[in-house]
Amino acid sequence: MSYETIETETHGRVALIRLNRPQALNALNAKLISELDCALAGFEADEGIGCVVITGSEKAFAAGADIKEMAGKTFAEAFLSDFIGRWDTVARARKPIIAAVAGFALGGGCEVAMMCDFIIAADTAQFGQPEIKLGVIPGAGGTQRLTRAIGKAKAMDLVLTGRMMGAEEAERSGLVARVVPAADLVAEALKAGAAIAAMSLPAALMAKDAVNAAFETTLTEGVRYERRLFYSLFATEDQKEGMAAFAEKRKAAFRHR
Ligand code: HXC
Repeated sequence: MSYETIETETHGRVALIRLNRPQALNALNAKLISELDCALAGFEADEGIGCVVITGSEKAFAAGADIKEMAGKTFAEAFLSDFIGRWDTVARARKPIIAAVAGFALGGGCEVAMMCDFIIAADTAQFGQPEIKLGVIPGAGGTQRLTRAIGKAKAMDLVLTGRMMGAEEAERSGLVARVVPAADLVAEALKAGAAIAAMSLPAALMAKDAVNAAFETTLTEGVRYERRLFYSLFATEDQKEGMAAFAEKRKAAFRHR
């Protein structure tokens, strides 16, 4: 499938989606969001894919929603079309998704990175929610996901001042899982993706689902939910294989079912 604003590749069981609007620092316009939606839907449906990596360029993961496209919208157009509703695709995906971020991840760019399951950042990464400087606020989950990731004090600092946060501060704050040299970013993300994609796919999907439940429910309910998922994995061939392989001192060969 060929796209105008993204590029896709597969590396074994790992899919790579590269945001690709270099002339606008990968600003997220309607076309890009719909192509991202379409590519993700394809990889979600593809049994041969176990993990997706989303990345941008060296200069920008994405510098936000496309300001020029949004600028003229009236309240009625924005509200009735609910254009941000279409952005949820990344957050709704069931397969694990890694954001590999170099350069700017601002506004909607930071929000898309936060919709992914975790972020691997290049040492050049700059995160921020600068919407306040445009007379608006984050609209694709920024006030919610950033606050859950880094706490109220830092989230307020970033959302109210619109300042950028570098990779080291982002890692220290808990927004980013790992920081790697910029030159190694995609290779490191693909390596992490390959490790995940080699696991049992039902186990990976349930692990993701269970961690996400921690943000939606009480501890008691969350632990109960986790236990139900845990027991259900004993119905998979992969659980039998994984545990047999341990006992036989060999590497598990998961069939992903
Ligand atoms: C449209 C953008 C853009 C954006 C950059 N460009 N960001 N176009 N929307 N978000 C375009 C510029 O207009 C310019 O095009 C080209 O990309 C290069 O950008 P420069 O500004 O020349 O680059 P630089 O001087 O290096 O500055 C980089 C930057 C700056 C600091 C990232 O571009 C910037 O502040 N961008 C806006 C960041 C932002 O406010 N993001 C939040 C958007 S609101 P030309 O044609 O002039 O060369 C948002 C809301 C999300 O995301 C809510 C959900 C929808």
